[in-house]
Amino acid sequence: MGRWEERSGGEVARHEEQRGRREGERPAAEKEKLGVLLVGAGGAVASTFMAGVELIRRGLGEPVGSISQLGRLWVEEQKEGGSGGSSRPIKELLPLAGMDKLVFGGWDIFGEDCYEAAVGAGVLSKEHLGVVRDALREVELYRGVFDGRFVSALRGDYTKEGEYGSLEEAVSLIREDIRSFRRKSGAKSLVMINCASTEAYVEGDEGVHASLEGFERALRERKSHPAIAPSMLYAYAAIQEGVPYANGTPSVGADAPALIELAEQRGVALCGKDFKSGQTFLKSALAPAIKARMLGMEGWFSTNILGNRDGLVLEEPQNFKSKEITKRSVLDAILEPELYCGLYGDLYHRVEINYYPPRGDAKEGWDNIDIFGWLGYPMQIKVNLLARDSILAAPMVLDLALFLELVQREEGRGGVQSWLSFYFKSPMVREGAAEHDLFVQLLMLREKLRALAGLEPLCEPRALR
Ligand SMILES: NC(=O)c1ccc[n+]([C@@H]2O[C@H](COP(=O)([O-])OP(=O)(O)OC[C@H]3O[C@@H](n4cnc5c(N)ncnc54)[C@H](O)[C@@H]3O)[C@@H](O)[C@H]2O)c1
Repeated sequence: MGRWEERSGGEVARHEEQRGRREGERPAAEKEKLGVLLVGAGGAVASTFMAGVELIRRGLGEPVGSISQLGRLWVEEQKEGGSGGSSRPIKELLPLAGMDKLVFGGWDIFGEDCYEAAVGAGVLSKEHLGVVRDALREVELYRGVFDGRFVSALRGDYTKEGEYGSLEEAVSLIREDIRSFRRKSGAKSLVMINCASTEAYVEGDEGVHASLEGFERALRERKSHPAIAPSMLYAYAAIQEGVPYANGTPSVGADAPALIELAEQRGVALCGKDFKSGQTFLKSALAPAIKARMLGMEGWFSTNILGNRDGLVLEEPQNFKSKEITKRSVLDAILEPELYCGLYGDLYHRVEINYYPPRGDAKEGWDNIDIFGWLGYPMQIKVNLLARDSILAAPMVLDLALFLELVQREEGRGGVQSWLSFYFKSPMVREGAAEHDLFVQLLMLREKLRALAGLEPLCEPRALR
């Protein structure tokens, strides 16, 4: 009996019937290729993700850290003499694209193949990379659209510079790459994940960002524009091609009303920004715990050292500003000082990132949290995280690719997917405030996955607040 045949009885089978599938039938999507297009395909995160998928499908590793592969949902079942249930793997409950069906392509501004890039990133061992060398060498790598004003620390020579006379033409070139990849790879669906270097902070420009008309006018009229970073061009190209888009970086990407409007028109799913993989992940778990006990907080100082290319780019103050904004937004939103003024009204929050080459991708983070308890007596919490940045981020790329493709296929509605906030430091929202509490975010994610699996809701996530 295959794993899909085990899905008899209960809520799941009922939902499968509603969708017109016979019980036990594997959904077509699992058999189709899913193309994952990575902006920054030669970077540490992207290459660790691709190499990891290749290793896992050869049985040489486990998808540790991936909710789509290892997570479970509770399924209620009516049984004789009462109700019961069981915890069932998410990948069996949902018609997600299979890991063996993923194909990869993308863009970078350095022309080395993805094997060389992965060796250079220094995240995975030579033994691991040796096994998947050929697969990584075959990854279709297109020339990036690059503007040195947004990433001044890098000077790549594998770009489309000189090939376009307007930003609109630059977008056309990216769109042509997307179509070419679709043809060559035979992928039925595509998703785009932005894993490129963090761009310098972009000041809001009403005339360009607020409406599609203004944005498209600027694309037509300009060859470069201080309010239009390359990440926005990739995002716009993805939306125009009907490709769901996730932004794993603090760069603007699709996070402008003009692009959100287009995604809604086109039924393209969007999410971002900035993977919540390490220090901020722990922050968004610890802060709700402190608040849950109604303990006070006077200060939170976060600092870390990292020595990869990401760290080099973040040395530049304008690029760090993009990161700082996504990292700092977390605490206020969780602690709600406007409601709990006596506990969090005077909180001092400081975030630092330091480039320190000897560490490479093996980031070390320190957090000092000054809290207070009964009668205001002070206490401290120290967290020392010795992480591996790309090892934490790679499974998030996998989950986002699979979940985004699924939701667009199943619902076709498009627009911002705030139920994926769990994965981001600065979650995109259509309107209102973003949710930062990891546990509320987790419930939002799980409830949406339940809905997609045809299961009854269990709770209202924001009731946890
Ligand atoms: N690793 C993590 O845990 C983590 C967490 C949150 C966010 N991020 C973000 O993810 C991104 C990738 O991180 P990384 O460690 O892989 O960095 P990286 O420097 O190793 O990779 C980025 C890649 O993007 C390429 N690039 C730059 N501009 C480009 C452009 N315009 N078009 C195409 N390619 C371009 C670079 O050449 C490089 O190969 C960064 O923005 C980082 O801030 C990473």
